[in-house]
Amino acid sequence: MTDVALGLGSGSGFSWEGLRVRELEEKLRSTRHATICALNQMLDLKDLNTGVHSTRLAEWAVRIGRELGLDDARLEDIEVAALLHDAGKVGVPDAILKKAGPLDPGEWRIMKMHPEFSWAVLRLVPGLERASLFALHHHEKYDGSGYPSGLRGREIPIGARIVSVIDAFDAMVAERPYKHGLPTEEALRRLVKDSKTHFDPDVVDIFLPMAQKEMDSVFEATGVERETAL
Ligand SMILES: [Fe+2]
Repeated sequence: MTDVALGLGSGSGFSWEGLRVRELEEKLRSTRHATICALNQMLDLKDLNTGVHSTRLAEWAVRIGRELGLDDARLEDIEVAALLHDAGKVGVPDAILKKAGPLDPGEWRIMKMHPEFSWAVLRLVPGLERASLFALHHHEKYDGSGYPSGLRGREIPIGARIVSVIDAFDAMVAERPYKHGLPTEEALRRLVKDSKTHFDPDVVDIFLPMAQKEMDSVFEATGVERETAL
């Protein structure tokens, strides 16, 4: 039976080719999703995901991106970058990652390579090319004093500027086995203090009221209460 006889001609807006393309797109999406989950799992195994830290970052990142009016494709890139920006830490020896005291210059040099390692891995996954660039630049600083490229201001990709703010904030407020989290107000005060030097002031401006209003809902969305979150 022909397409026309089935009522599937061009007039109906249906085409087998279109269906095939959609199927392939769907397959690509689910493969990409599985790859993201697998990489995330690997970070868990290496004990590099401190609890739901990265899940919370993804939640905050998407909320900030939405507020900035970014489109869905860019929001997805930012979500992935928030989840996997530190994936490259698998390339840093445990002796350095888990060292209690300050790192010596040689160790610090290796530690500072983790954004490039993250980029090297993520860029190989079809569809994660832009997320890989966000990961590459997540330790740049707004005044150009960061690494690896010393980019400044808006030269730093927007996804990297967002991850930088929320990564610092979440690290400050989260409870860890070895330290208590800072009160939200104090963490926000520090973000403001370092706005324009370390952080993009526009991202900080958007994040401030959001952090005050939505803190509980973000912790809820990631299934952990603030007091117990690691
Ligand atoms: Fe990092």
